[in-house]
Amino acid sequence: MKGSKTRLAPRKNKLNAERAPLERLERGLPAAWYRDPDHHARELEVFWYDRWIAVARAEELSSPGEYRVVTIGTQSVILLRDTGHRLRAFHNTCRHRGSILCDGEAGRFEHGRITCPYHSWTYNLEGRLEVTPRRMPTPDFDTGNFSLFPVAVQAWGGFVFVHLGNNPPPLAKTLGEAPQRFKNHNLAGLRIGKRIIADVRANWKLIAENFSECLHCPPVHPEFCRVVTSYREGGAWGLRGNEEASPEYKPGATTLTLDGNSRIPAFHNLDETQRRALYTPWMAPPNLFLNVHPDYVNAHMMFPTGPETVRIIYDWLFEPEHMPESADLDHYVALWDVTNAQDARNCEWQQQGMRSDKFKNGVFVPQEFDCHRFCEWVREGLRAAKRRR
Ligand code: FES
Ligand SMILES: [Fe+2]
Repeated sequence: MKGSKTRLAPRKNKLNAERAPLERLERGLPAAWYRDPDHHARELEVFWYDRWIAVARAEELSSPGEYRVVTIGTQSVILLRDTGHRLRAFHNTCRHRGSILCDGEAGRFEHGRITCPYHSWTYNLEGRLEVTPRRMPTPDFDTGNFSLFPVAVQAWGGFVFVHLGNNPPPLAKTLGEAPQRFKNHNLAGLRIGKRIIADVRANWKLIAENFSECLHCPPVHPEFCRVVTSYREGGAWGLRGNEEASPEYKPGATTLTLDGNSRIPAFHNLDETQRRALYTPWMAPPNLFLNVHPDYVNAHMMFPTGPETVRIIYDWLFEPEHMPESADLDHYVALWDVTNAQDARNCEWQQQGMRSDKFKNGVFVPQEFDCHRFCEWVREGLRAAKRRR
């Protein structure tokens, strides 16, 4: 910033939980952190292998033996339902000589057996080694020493989370106020009506930052701003000193669709205030983002696929008894489909522009306080990991 009139505030250690605009410009993360492979490897260790990561909806594993393979950075994990109907997760790695056990994305382990495709070592759904065909016996072999490497797994709100680190903290710490806040929405009871998977050419942090501000809404999201009218103000609505902003939503709107109309009833447990809250965004960093509405939820699960690429799974969730079909489903999908695509395009543009050798870091203006909070969370996570080393 040499030669510029811009003054940057010193970094703060404390994360600001208040919904208040920044009082001065704040510095973004170093541009190199959005593309450097070594830095990316460090971030995988700190934020992806040592945090709770949302990887699936529980309904995708509905019966014993059903499995899915999920990839977090370089790590491949098998998620499954065991014979007792419990969720389990294991590294997708055979204890014999390290082959992967599954090379597909999903399927069913027949007869409750996981068989390695290489030499057929066979494990039960609890991960215990049971059979080692054609192995000549030796006195030192104990099957009990060769169980699959377990991965911690928990569920909340119908989302399945895994934690690849040692001694994971309770998932509740990651969720914060969400279980209470969305109690009446009964997220666990919702089912996927539509899933769209997108590969986006941007660093994972840009996706999180994009989700954290609406300064970009007026120029980028005309459809969205037609329904959430307060967002025409570029994320300034409802901030301290700006409380009597214009109406929040298009008059008469009852949910977040292109025209603001709903075609299914609101979630059955909502109170009046919750029914009127047409849009509640929520984020569990690093990878779960929710857009919660009175009658559906648009959920994003993000996975880094490289320093400059991510895969995003977008799910539209509904109460099963009011699952919209055909034209009604399209009606519910359309707004977030167009908005998510606009956001992905922004992030790709930003990723490209940040490659300039001249660009060292961005700056956050007052309404981008949540971006700043996210970046402080990243800085603090990296600092804490360094201290532990
Ligand atoms: S590597 Fe799996 S059985 Fe040999
Ligand atoms: Fe956006």
